[in-house]
Amino acid sequence: MFKVNEDYLKLPGSYLFSTIAKKVAAFSDANPEKELIRLGIGDVTQPLAPSIIEALHGAVDEMGNAETFHGYAPDLGYEFLRNAIVKGDYESRGADIAADEIFVSDGAKCDSGNIQEIFAKDNKIAVCDPVYPVYVDTNVMAGRTGTYDPKKETWSNVIYMPCTAENNFAPDFPDEVPDIIYLCFPNNPTGSTITKDQLQGWVDYANKNGCVIIYDAAYEAYISEDNVAHTIYECQGARTCAIELKSFSKNAGFTGVRLGYTVIPKDLKAGDVMLHSLWARRHGTKYNGAPYIVQRAGEAVYSEAGKAQLKEQVGYYMNNAKVIFEGLKNAGYTVSGGVNAPYIWLKTPDNMTSWEFFDFLLEKANVVGTPGSGFGPSGEGYFRLTAFGSYDNTVAAIERIKNI
Ligand SMILES: Cc1ncc(COP(=O)(O)O)c(C=O)c1O
Repeated sequence: MFKVNEDYLKLPGSYLFSTIAKKVAAFSDANPEKELIRLGIGDVTQPLAPSIIEALHGAVDEMGNAETFHGYAPDLGYEFLRNAIVKGDYESRGADIAADEIFVSDGAKCDSGNIQEIFAKDNKIAVCDPVYPVYVDTNVMAGRTGTYDPKKETWSNVIYMPCTAENNFAPDFPDEVPDIIYLCFPNNPTGSTITKDQLQGWVDYANKNGCVIIYDAAYEAYISEDNVAHTIYECQGARTCAIELKSFSKNAGFTGVRLGYTVIPKDLKAGDVMLHSLWARRHGTKYNGAPYIVQRAGEAVYSEAGKAQLKEQVGYYMNNAKVIFEGLKNAGYTVSGGVNAPYIWLKTPDNMTSWEFFDFLLEKANVVGTPGSGFGPSGEGYFRLTAFGSYDNTVAAIERIKNI
């Protein structure tokens, strides 16, 4: 008789966004006349930029011709894209990363979930609290997290690094030294970030203590302040301790197109073993590459026209962030984030729990957001709104919230 992976059975409840979707569907069924504004899930709404559409069309035409047709992509991704990434994301920042240290993929969610596979089962992970749920849940599935305490909503074998207003949403070094440290800056869900000096502190900590940092830079394009690193490889010593995850979803609107990449420097080793070799083995065995058409679209992200168009698109969302931030602040809410990230993190009023505020906002303003507690225990009492809606919807949502 076959058996299931029992580690899956340890996962509590359903995924945060499924719970939200169910609540929203129930509300809509009961109130069909109410028009909802959704500022919950972090999905983009603006169409793909013209340069990207042009590259997609061009690549589709190539696929229709025997001379220019492309089958399986090379294991690490096409060189034209990896070279564009090196030039656009690393050389331009003074960061030393080579094209063969980049693994092109279909997005950062898969990579952030799969990367734990190359580490031993008895490694101890540390995560920020609140956190993007994928890091913890995939370690649960792998049997690395111990037992779940439903009261505290924590795992016995996970080190939680609270990020709250008290520490300006920047994690402190944990008391117990972890093996694997997940960091994400600019942060989802808090919308806050840390300075380059603070990030250098984490790199120094990791090198000193033999930890690896898995650095999720999915929101890098939203950085507006000068003292924030765009890549962890701007920090001295990061090549020996850090893996970086990048996504094309939020900087270029590829949430439905699917493209991302992972960087593993060849200097990153456990004893004699290069993590690069392990990930290359994994990639070669379990993954068959992002589509040629999509990789050509990714290349267009780094063209001069593409860069200009995407700067405008990011600016559009960041203007929404400003509308939300200023609007809520003027209405008396305590807000943070929204300066280097498309997320606004607000303190729930009147000591409401995150889910109480979710229901309150849904019923009174017909606005959908995300309860902070869904991202971890330290998210309790907070709430996330995204700047990824349309401008008109964003303005309307804030007006509704002000008028409650
Ligand atoms: C922190 C973080 N990492 C990764 C992802 C996933 O990105 P992708 O669309 O490339 O899978 C998201 C998406 O919301 C995210 O918030």
